[in-house]
Amino acid sequence: MDARNLDITETAALLRGLLPSWRLMHFEEIDSTNRYAKALATQDPDLRALIVADSQSAGRGRMGRDFYSPASTGLYFSLVFPAESALGSLPLTAAAAVAVLRAVYKLTGKQLSVKWVNDLLLNEKKVAGILCEGVYTGNRQSMVIGIGINVSTDAFPADLQAVAGSLAETSLSRDLLLREVCGELIPYIQDPGDRAWLSDYRTHSCVLGREIKWLENGVWQMGQALDMDADGALLVKNSAGEVCRLATGEITLRRL
Ligand code: BTN
Repeated sequence: MDARNLDITETAALLRGLLPSWRLMHFEEIDSTNRYAKALATQDPDLRALIVADSQSAGRGRMGRDFYSPASTGLYFSLVFPAESALGSLPLTAAAAVAVLRAVYKLTGKQLSVKWVNDLLLNEKKVAGILCEGVYTGNRQSMVIGIGINVSTDAFPADLQAVAGSLAETSLSRDLLLREVCGELIPYIQDPGDRAWLSDYRTHSCVLGREIKWLENGVWQMGQALDMDADGALLVKNSAGEVCRLATGEITLRRL
């Protein structure tokens, strides 16, 4: 195997210790770890697995966007598990964002910020994204948390160059990063009521206090981001002075 390929030996050991009943699947290339996780969960709603790829040919983001996933320079993985209680995708996304920013800070000293709801930024460029999706099979529900991190990618397609960046960590082990993110996130998956991520989600938000725009029923609204609630929903004051709760969708930061 190419030395730059992802070696997940240590992650396998961590999973065996922390989560003995979970499966670990590793691909050198796949279309999308989220798509694959969802297909497997449809066949087996009891499946608990971590699916990791060295590259994705059709990595997916929110709102039908692509997630650029070249070989050897990024970390792309999905966790899939049965949603035994009411696991909302909003708090899962927020918990995953905090897991990534804590792991990155621990390993590199670089402090990411979170652009609600699922983007992680460094120097105002997106370096990581999260896509949580539910899978419904009869009366069973599984959740998929997909995480993509640009570890050392330095060349992006033209349409991404202005907005995408990377951690610029050429010698950071992606296996170690995977392990740290899973180590942060798995306790939350095991105890979804735990809101220990909330304080970091607020502190490292690049949105709170800012003027923002959001789309509501096809109409752009403007206002100020005030706070997050315990589920990670954004509380915003609109231009009429009313406080609204945004639990989905996308916001744009306004440059004043
Ligand atoms: C976004 O930017 O809107 C979310 C990006 C999520 C990308 C990750 S990479 C691993 C997993 N598989 C996918 O196809 N997408 C997620």
